[in-house]
Amino acid sequence: MLTNKETVGRVLFTEEMIRQRAHELGEQISRDYAGEPLVLLCTLKGSVVWMGDLMKEITIDTEIDFISASSYGSSTSSSGVVKISKDVKMDLFQKNVLIVEDIVDTGNTLAFMRDYLKERNPKSVKICTMLDKPSRRTADVVPDYIGFTVDDLFIIGYGLDFDQKYRNLPYVSYLDH
Ligand code: IMP
Ligand code: MG
Repeated sequence: MLTNKETVGRVLFTEEMIRQRAHELGEQISRDYAGEPLVLLCTLKGSVVWMGDLMKEITIDTEIDFISASSYGSSTSSSGVVKISKDVKMDLFQKNVLIVEDIVDTGNTLAFMRDYLKERNPKSVKICTMLDKPSRRTADVVPDYIGFTVDDLFIIGYGLDFDQKYRNLPYVSYLDH
């Protein structure tokens, strides 16, 4: 259980490390989707910082949009009940959708979102996540592009929050308590 005595742990990934990784993945994505219609779909709110880094490294034409899905339950673990709280505006028909995610934990949110988006008949749906926490996976979700893999810690910073706090930390850390 987390208490209000939580403190920020050590730095896991600096801004420089993350931007370097965004550069590498941006090159790869630009190659993989060359000549194809691409939509970068940023999941709010946690992915905005990573999205900003990644989109600047993509050298092919791309559109962007935003989606927000929330899962009910406690603030530190997802319950599996997901609801779309801000929907995509853009027409996704025949487009390649790349979901830009902050972290894949249980995978429940993305499993739901992926099925939800497929109803719009896109050409493809793939996932690019800044962080992957595979030890906690319960849903059948394998990210296509992964920035870094993390241990089973509660991650904060660089967009990720605990109770809406710490999103503005310019590095990735974890809650130490
Ligand atoms: P999932 O459905 O369990 O994969 O996680 C859903 C969302 O919960 C992620 O996209 C994050 O926005 C958030 N989340 C999961 N793990 C963490 C964490 O360690 N720190 C902060 N947010 C997290
Ligand atoms: Mg997220």
